[in-house]
Amino acid sequence: MNPRAELRVLFNRQEIEAAVRRLASEISQDYRNKNPVLLGILRGSFVFLADLIRHLDFPLEVDFIELSSYGSSTQTSGKIKVMKKPETPVRDRNVLIVEDIVDTGLTTDFLIKYLKRQKPASVRLCALTDKPTRREVPVKIDYTGFTVPNKFLVGYGLDANQKFRNLPDICYFEGEA
Ligand code: PRP
Repeated sequence: MNPRAELRVLFNRQEIEAAVRRLASEISQDYRNKNPVLLGILRGSFVFLADLIRHLDFPLEVDFIELSSYGSSTQTSGKIKVMKKPETPVRDRNVLIVEDIVDTGLTTDFLIKYLKRQKPASVRLCALTDKPTRREVPVKIDYTGFTVPNKFLVGYGLDANQKFRNLPDICYFEGEA
């Protein structure tokens, strides 16, 4: 990472809050009577998921899966590993994947296929940010917060080498490719 790159805000906390409320409203219309399993992908989704569920006022369950492809690099290795499996049996359940960012699509493509092998009633994807210019495999995003430019994003759960997840805004480094 360029040490002279400056941190700039792409979406501030108010804009994020508005997007989370909009997504929660869309999800509520579709899942109110379905007792869904909201499945967060660790670690990046934990901030978004925590905010999202507090706007959902119907029965739901939360679980997590930890997937990793980037390691300590900013480039995807292209190989997805399951680092931690969910505890909840998803057979016949309505599963909503909650993700912070869809970039190449490799992570979510892997996860959707992984879950479908377990015969859920349905699988859908909610992504706070979508970076379509980087896509390597097609992924259907059912609920999208923001479509984002091809910049390396940090904050609101997103990291650079495990740092910056705690920033309340979604930021990027000016001067970075
Ligand atoms: C990041 C992000 C997504 C994934 C998206 O996870 O949280 O899960 O990359 O990239 P893709 O669409 O190119 O697959 P990362 O592996 O960096 O782990 P993290 O969630 O712990 O930050």
